[in-house]
Amino acid sequence: MQTGWTIPLGKIDGVVERKTVTEKLKTVKSRPVREDDVFLCTYPKSGTHWTWEIINMIVAGKAEYAKHWKNSAALEYRSEEGLEELASPRIIQTHLLPGHMPELLWTRRCKVVYVQRNPKDCAVSYFCQMSQQVFEGSPSEQMTYTGSWDEFFRFFIAGSVPYGSIFHHVEKWGNVPAMHKGFEICHVQYEDMKQDCVAQVRKIAEYLDRPLPESTYQEIADACSFENLKIACEKTKDQTFHKPWRDGASGYFRKGQTGDWKNWFTVAQSEEFDRLYELEMKKYPNLWMPFPEN
Ligand code: A3P
Repeated sequence: MQTGWTIPLGKIDGVVERKTVTEKLKTVKSRPVREDDVFLCTYPKSGTHWTWEIINMIVAGKAEYAKHWKNSAALEYRSEEGLEELASPRIIQTHLLPGHMPELLWTRRCKVVYVQRNPKDCAVSYFCQMSQQVFEGSPSEQMTYTGSWDEFFRFFIAGSVPYGSIFHHVEKWGNVPAMHKGFEICHVQYEDMKQDCVAQVRKIAEYLDRPLPESTYQEIADACSFENLKIACEKTKDQTFHKPWRDGASGYFRKGQTGDWKNWFTVAQSEEFDRLYELEMKKYPNLWMPFPEN
C-alpha cells in the first residue's frame, strides 16, 4: 500500500487501479454489449455526473432527472447482472481505458462520449474526493486518501492514482479512431460546457442521432446547472447508489468552477505541471487545449 492511501492499490497492464477494480476487470472485457448502449468515458473528476445526466435527458427527450445516481450505471462497479437490469438504451459510465473496455463495444460500434477537463482542476477535484470519501475496501471511517495535497500532487503527476495518468488516459482515448478503424467518438470539454452548455448539449444530441427542439436543449442545460443538479442529486434522487462522504464534506458537487487549481497549486507545482503538459501537447497537439493558463 502506498503512503497516504487506505485502500489496496494494484497495477493492471502497468496502470494503477484499486484492487477491487483490478478484480472486476477480469470479467469486464467479455461483458455483453447492446447495440444501443451509450458509453460515457472520462478520467475521474472531468464532469462525469454532469454529462451523464445530460445524456440521460437527451435520450429521454426531456429535462427529467434519472431516478438514480450515475453509479447505478458504472461499468467497473456494477456487476454484469446489475447492468443487465438497466433498461435500454443504457447510459454506461466508466473511467476505464479503451484497452479494458468490453470488446464487443468496438464491433457493435456503440456511441461513445469522452469528456476532458483541465488536468490541473482534475487533480484538485480528485484530491478533494479521495480525502473526503470512504471507498469500497477502506477500513471503516477512514478516508480513501489521508496524505497532504503536496504528496497527492506527486502521485498525480506520476500517474500513481487510481485510473493512472490523466495524460495516458487522454492519449489512449484519443487514439481509438486509429486503433478501431475510424471509430467515432464525441469529444466534449468541461470548459466548453461551462461556457455554453446548450451548444454542448446540442452537439451530444446530434452525435447520438437524437436531435431535439432548441427549447429542450435549453431546458436540459438549465436542469443540469451546477446548482440545480446538486439539489436534484442530493435531495431528490434515490440514494441507493450514492457512496458516503465525510460528514460536512462537499460531496460530488463541490465548486463546479474552472481554474480552482490556482487556489491549490504552488508556483513551483504549476511550473512543473506546465513543463509536463507542454511535452504531452507536443506529442499529441490535437488532443489537448491550452488549458493551464485558464
Ligand atoms: P469540483 O470538485 O472542481 O467542484 P465527476 O462527476 O467526474 O466526479 O466530476 C466532479 C466535478 O464536476 C466536480 O468538480 C463537480 O463540482 C463538477 N460538476 C458536477 N456537476 C457540475 C455542473 N452541473 N456544472 C459544473 N461542474 C459540475
